[in-house]
Amino acid sequence: MQSALNLPTPPPELQVLSHTLGERIVDWIEDNGPMPFDQYMQMCLYEPGLGYYSNGLHKFGASGDFITAPEQGDLFAQALARQIDRASPEWGDDWVLLELGAGSGVLAKDILRHLQHCPIRYEILEPNVALRSVQAQTLKDSPHQDRVSWIDQPPQDAFRGLILANEVIDALPVKRFKVTAKGIKELAVHTIQDGDTARFAWTEIAPAPRLIRAIEALQERMTSSLPLGFESELCVDLPSWLAEMTRALEHGMAWFIDYGYPTHGYYHPQRDRGTLVCHYRHRAHFDPFIWPGLTDLSCFVDFGLLEWAAMNAGLAQTGLTSQAEFVLAMDIHEAVVAQKDERLRLSQLAELKRLTLPGEMGEKFKLMALARGDHPPLHGFCGSMLS
Ligand SMILES: C[S@@+](CC[C@H](N)C(=O)[O-])C[C@H]1O[C@@H](n2cnc3c(N)ncnc32)[C@H](O)[C@@H]1O
Repeated sequence: MQSALNLPTPPPELQVLSHTLGERIVDWIEDNGPMPFDQYMQMCLYEPGLGYYSNGLHKFGASGDFITAPEQGDLFAQALARQIDRASPEWGDDWVLLELGAGSGVLAKDILRHLQHCPIRYEILEPNVALRSVQAQTLKDSPHQDRVSWIDQPPQDAFRGLILANEVIDALPVKRFKVTAKGIKELAVHTIQDGDTARFAWTEIAPAPRLIRAIEALQERMTSSLPLGFESELCVDLPSWLAEMTRALEHGMAWFIDYGYPTHGYYHPQRDRGTLVCHYRHRAHFDPFIWPGLTDLSCFVDFGLLEWAAMNAGLAQTGLTSQAEFVLAMDIHEAVVAQKDERLRLSQLAELKRLTLPGEMGEKFKLMALARGDHPPLHGFCGSMLS
């Protein structure tokens, strides 16, 4: 399942793991026909013991495949902690912070370190068991570790507080589709024989009814129609996932941080091959069939879809801003400039640049705030973006 792309070759034991996952996908295709891409993405990322996040091999930060904002240093956590401190008086004394998909656990550790008013509980919903132990390890020396607990499913009992998710929606499986002269086709994965070996390739199938419904709903939110030949993605499960995650939130907010665009940008005619991106050892490429299980697959977030899903889940969108605007609104640059330790100041300046410069994470990453119950606007989210 390699390609001509110039990527580093994984060590033999990882190749075996990837081939095992590949064979499992091939078996499914032989039994059932082409595999819808969302199912392929689900298996590549989350197949028990074999998927990218569930095979126990995933490394965060510089030694991994990509670096998220919390892995750069603690400035992003500081910015979030400052905004949480201003928001939390609304939620009473026994508010809860629920983090979804906590990765290495470093964001939890750093937020708890910087908060003036800690939540009564910091819950982590992490579906990947292999990552939970990484998170527990990261948090083991935290003075607040007694407040941290892991939950297996979204909370059932009503709570007040905050739900936080950094780069989680981009890791939810998406359906891929193409606009053809015969209408919408779903893009799926099949195998073709290449000499002695089989390799994965794209094929078109009749769209699943839920994809058709989701595209109809998308077209109602758009001002123009999708051009012929246009290919893209749609996270069909986002509305039900959001509703499930936020159901027990009685009064509070949910903040989603991710790379993405408002709907008109996401489905702009120029973006006619979609937004699916693969990461392997700090190389980005667009072929999801290379080294399944060893490669991160992700998609940009349609923030218009997130807002629409929020409305259907009984939440109001109360802000969409760029990461740069958020971090600067929290005056993090002033804290960096005031830093007395020169070495730390220099490394924090470099981190600040990565978080805020438009060519780095500053514009690509956005924060959307959703609220249930009364909420004054939060000034960190009063950026200039329209969804
Ligand atoms: C790209 S990583 C981001 C990790 C971390 N939040 C960070 O910023 O470094 C995606 C995370 O989302 C988790 N995840 C995937 N599907 C999820 C789901 N349905 N619910 C909650 N978390 C999920 C993954 O296991 C992983 O921890």
